[in-house]
Order: sequence, then C-alpha cells, then structure tokens
Amino acid sequence: MSIDYTERIPNNVDLADDRRLQRALESWQPAFLQWWGETGPALPTQDVYLRTAVAVGRQGWASFARVKLPEYRWGIFLAERDPGRRIAFGQHKGEPVWQQVPGEHRASLQRLIVVQGDTEPASVEQQRRLGLTAPSLYDLRNLFQVNVEEGRHLWAMVYLLHAHFGRAGRDEAEALLLRNSGSEDSPRILGAFNEETPDWLSFFMFTYFTDRDGKYQLGTLKESAFDPLSRTCEFMLKEEAHHMFVGTTGVDRVAERTAELMRIHDTGDIAPFGGIPLAVIQKYLNFHYSVSLDLFGGETSTNVANYFTSGLKGRWQEERRDDDHVLTEAVTPVQQLDGGAIVEVDLPALTALNHDLRTQYIADCQTGITRWNRILASNGISGPGLYLPHVGFNRRVGLFAGCHITPDGRVVDEASWAAGRASWLPTAADKAHVESLMRPVYEPGKIAAWLAPPRNGINGQPLDYEYVRF
Ligand SMILES: [Fe+2]
Ligand SMILES: [Fe+2]
Repeated sequence: MSIDYTERIPNNVDLADDRRLQRALESWQPAFLQWWGETGPALPTQDVYLRTAVAVGRQGWASFARVKLPEYRWGIFLAERDPGRRIAFGQHKGEPVWQQVPGEHRASLQRLIVVQGDTEPASVEQQRRLGLTAPSLYDLRNLFQVNVEEGRHLWAMVYLLHAHFGRAGRDEAEALLLRNSGSEDSPRILGAFNEETPDWLSFFMFTYFTDRDGKYQLGTLKESAFDPLSRTCEFMLKEEAHHMFVGTTGVDRVAERTAELMRIHDTGDIAPFGGIPLAVIQKYLNFHYSVSLDLFGGETSTNVANYFTSGLKGRWQEERRDDDHVLTEAVTPVQQLDGGAIVEVDLPALTALNHDLRTQYIADCQTGITRWNRILASNGISGPGLYLPHVGFNRRVGLFAGCHITPDGRVVDEASWAAGRASWLPTAADKAHVESLMRPVYEPGKIAAWLAPPRNGINGQPLDYEYVRF
C-alpha cells in the first residue's frame, strides 16, 4: 500500500474514513508545527536531502528528495496488519491480539505511550542548536533526518492517543508539546532527555547509546498485545536503524581521526593538534552510557512484571526466546550492592524484566566497543582502547543509585569518587576543548579536522553532494 501525499496528514490508517479523528489530529497539527518552529532546528536552510516514508512494505519504503524542512510531510504509518497475530506471552498467551484497548489496561497503556512519546520531541529539542556547528553537510543532513523522524515518532504516539484514549488521550497529546527538555517547570519525563546535547561528540554518543535504548523500548512495545501499538513500533524501528547508524559511524569516524592524529604526532595528547583525545572520548562514552542505563528503570519492578503478565509489554525478541513466555517459575541473576561489595543474587525473572532488557542492550552496546577498538588497532593504536564502564558507574536509578562505583567496578568511598571523577566523566576543560572544535563546515565534500570522512554518501550520492542548501 502506497501512501497518499496529497492528504493533509499522510497516513496508512484510513484517516479519511474517520472524520472525527481526522479533525482532532488536524487541530493538533498547527500546535505541532508551532512547536517545531520554536524548538526544532535553529539553523535556517533552504532545503535538505531527506528520506520520507512512502510505503511500509518490505521493499522501497522510503524516497529521497530535497525538502524544505518546515514542509516535511510528517505522517502516520503503521506496519501492515497480520490478521492471524496472537499474543506471544503472559496470561493471555495464544489469544488473538487486541485491536481496541481493554478497559482494565487503559491507564497503563496510556502511560507507556506517553512516556515513549515524550522522548521523541525531547531529542529534537536537545539537538536544536547542533546544526550551527555541523562538521559537514553530510552530517548536517543526517542530523535533520534524525530530527524529522523523531518528529514523526511523536506523530505516531499522538495518533494512538487520539485514536484510542478519548479526551484523556487528547490532553496528553497536547501536553507532549508543552513539556520541554531541560525546562525547570515542565521538564521531559526521563532524565537522559533533559541532558544537553551541546556538541557533535555528544550527538554521536547520544544516537549510539540513547537512541539504542529507544530501540530496545520499542522492541518491547512491538510485542504488545495491543496491535496498533505493536504495528506503530514495528515501523518506528525501521526508521530508528538510521539513527543508530549515525551514532555508530559517527563514533567510528571520531576514533579513526583520533588514532590518525595520535600516530602522526606520536602522542596521546592530540588536543593541541585539533583532535579529541581518546581519554575524552572515553569520558563522553561513560557519561552517555550511564545515563542511558538509567532509562531502563530499576532492575526490579512489579509494574513491569504486571505489564508482561497482562500482555502490554513483552521482552526483546519475545518469540525467539526458548522458554514458557509466562515466567512464573523462572529466576534471573542480578548484580547488587551488599555491605560494600557487589554480589549476584537470583531474583524472580518476572520482576527483573527491566534487568533482562538492559542485559540485551549492554550486549548490543559492546558491539560498538569492539568495532571502535578494531578501528583504533587498524590505525596502529594498541593498548586497552575503549570500554563500557561497570553497570553501577554513575547511576541515578535502580540498585546502584547513589553508590560510588568506579568504571572498573570497584565500590569506593565518597572521597575516592570525588578524586577520580575528573578522570571518568567529562570535565569543564574537556567540554571546552570539544566545544572549541565545533566550527561549522558547510562546503560540499569538506569535513571538520577532528572527524574522519564517512565511507559512503547517503542513498548512493557522492560525498561532495550538496546535502543541504542555504
Ligand atoms: Fe524515535
Ligand atoms: Fe531515534
């Protein structure tokens, strides 16, 4: 099914057949555009080479064209419906999935959708000023691609709120545009989405670690018994893959350039030569990884156990799991602090589902580390390279919140923590150095000196293509 772009809100949900819903969404649209104008990309442009979803099928779901940013066509797209789909887990396992929200799960489902929906506009707000310092037109284009798609993900959640949650859903949709990343009075719901993304190293780390958290959250909602939510998330995951590509290859290119400068100048102290020292990359990594781990919530949660049992939220790749998908008997080993030492205890698998998801996420994050260390090694940099800090490092949520745990997993007292902090997390001087490198490069084919060029252009275009015009 191809999507009709002559409609005011492009969609594949037969919006024209539901006049009330269509009118409700059309009245939300101006508020969205106003939000985009006020908190979306701060850099004025003429047009940007962007992909837009045109279908949801296996092949050719996107088309690429030069688009004026405020005229991007944000639409509502759900993955195709599988008429035989059945619930894969929990107490309703084997029953047909739900097309409507069951009354008893209304509040929980609405909350899950609002929390997910809140992250989407938040990242656009966090990235608002990055265009002013883009290291190349290629990178600038990727930033805007991520931004418009996060905007579309907001639409995806707002559609569900409008279509399935009545008055309360419409109020929540409005509130999604009123909260603001980092705001004192009405911040975004989750901590990591109130942090700043002030420079491109942070942006690459954010798209690697924080967008990847999004991937795992969407993966659990894709398993939902509430079929419209499942289909929405399935399509969002398709778009999300590019966001993580931006993060993975972004850090690749930072690592490559850093290694190159270390080799040329035969020193780790490459700051005077306009590079980002490996130790600074590690500190940024430590920060973004640890705040992203907080997004998984507490290791144990009875709420999440209930979501699972009642079918609202499954596990990552639920259907590939080789167990009973009910988990009333299962246990899972979880690390926690016990009298000054980190110990492993067996907890009921059902209440430790956040921990399960986080474990999958950590394994995925590790693939980036391996990849970046391979890049360092192939550029002649031997040594320990980059690593993921201990799961308890710098945590504000869960069993390790408020504990002082070093990146290598030692429990230390407050004084040692304070003494080590500057070597584990970005300092004011590190941030100032990174910021000093952030100078815009808007000439086609040129790249800022702190970053290696990408391997390939976008959609087969050459690297010196004019991805953004002013
Ligand atoms: Fe998203
Ligand atoms: Fe994303």
